[in-house]
Amino acid sequence: MTNDDEMAFEMALIRRAAAVEVLLRRLLDHRPLSGEIVRPERLMAAMRHGVLNGGKRLRPFLVMESAALFSADGEAALRVAAALECVHCYSLIHDDLPAMDDDDLRRGQPTVHKAFDEATAILAGDALLTLAFDIIAGEATMLPAERRVALVLALTRAAGAGGMVGGQKLDLEAEQTPPDEAGIIRLQAMKTGALIRFACEAGAIIAGASSEDRERLAEFGSAIGLAFQLADDLLDLTADASQMGKATGKDAAAGKGTLVALHGANWARSQLHGLVDQAHALLEPYGDHAALLKQAATFVATRNS
Ligand code: IPE
Ligand code: IPE
Ligand code: MG
Ligand code: MG
Ligand code: MG
Repeated sequence: MTNDDEMAFEMALIRRAAAVEVLLRRLLDHRPLSGEIVRPERLMAAMRHGVLNGGKRLRPFLVMESAALFSADGEAALRVAAALECVHCYSLIHDDLPAMDDDDLRRGQPTVHKAFDEATAILAGDALLTLAFDIIAGEATMLPAERRVALVLALTRAAGAGGMVGGQKLDLEAEQTPPDEAGIIRLQAMKTGALIRFACEAGAIIAGASSEDRERLAEFGSAIGLAFQLADDLLDLTADASQMGKATGKDAAAGKGTLVALHGANWARSQLHGLVDQAHALLEPYGDHAALLKQAATFVATRNS
């Protein structure tokens, strides 16, 4: 990737992040929607704290770019992107709770349970998860009803017991009983990979692309999802908290089952190269149209925050 490519990607990421931020702010308004009674002020403040606090917005970027690859409607993609970011932020709020990773810092700010309290953090996460499905199913997401249902279903499978939540459970169990390599790969494909896979697959669903394209984008998402968590684990070992905006050095201390713990940093780096090549190869059929998605794959593996 040349410096120009890198610059083009970073500017596209910032532009997409700004658009999703505007929409998220609107979706987290205190005014109740039709059918709602009241949106408690402190709950909404906690939700905003957990969402409108920076973040790379990589998953929204992947939704919007994968949709653009198939010339899908940008407004619908933006809403699906915002919905996915709500699920991601909920997963972070709960991941940081004392009962889980017990972290005080997220995106350079106090975690939601620190800024508010544990009960409020749990409820803010719950409400963000629910809100995600409201956003996708709602009529403002101007897609044929069957595409909205397909998106709801795919996100449910990615986020639930057989996806992110299940992966978080396996991740906690791995502190007690270290899994083997296949076990680690599976748990990471679930806890992190599933939402990233959904992000890429979503673009194809939004566009009504062929099942072949949908599967190809999902596979691309799986490859970069694995790379993403591998890079996260590497950064936990090599980066500091000011760079990451969150505590580092905690995985080894907690005895987390990671591939970095199992094989070391150098192995992880070469593995990252292989995953990026694999991800790029999957996008070959789309030629230059997929340039930004390819750069996203490189970014995921080489990021430093
Ligand atoms: C962090 O995700 C949690 C993992 C799945 C490793 P990100 O690194 O995408 O966090 P933000 O959204 O940019 O803060
Ligand atoms: C978190 O993994 C994955 C989810 C939140 C689903 P980590 O626990 O490694 O994420 P960080 O390092 O706290 O961001
Ligand atoms: Mg965790
Ligand atoms: Mg954590
Ligand atoms: Mg981590």
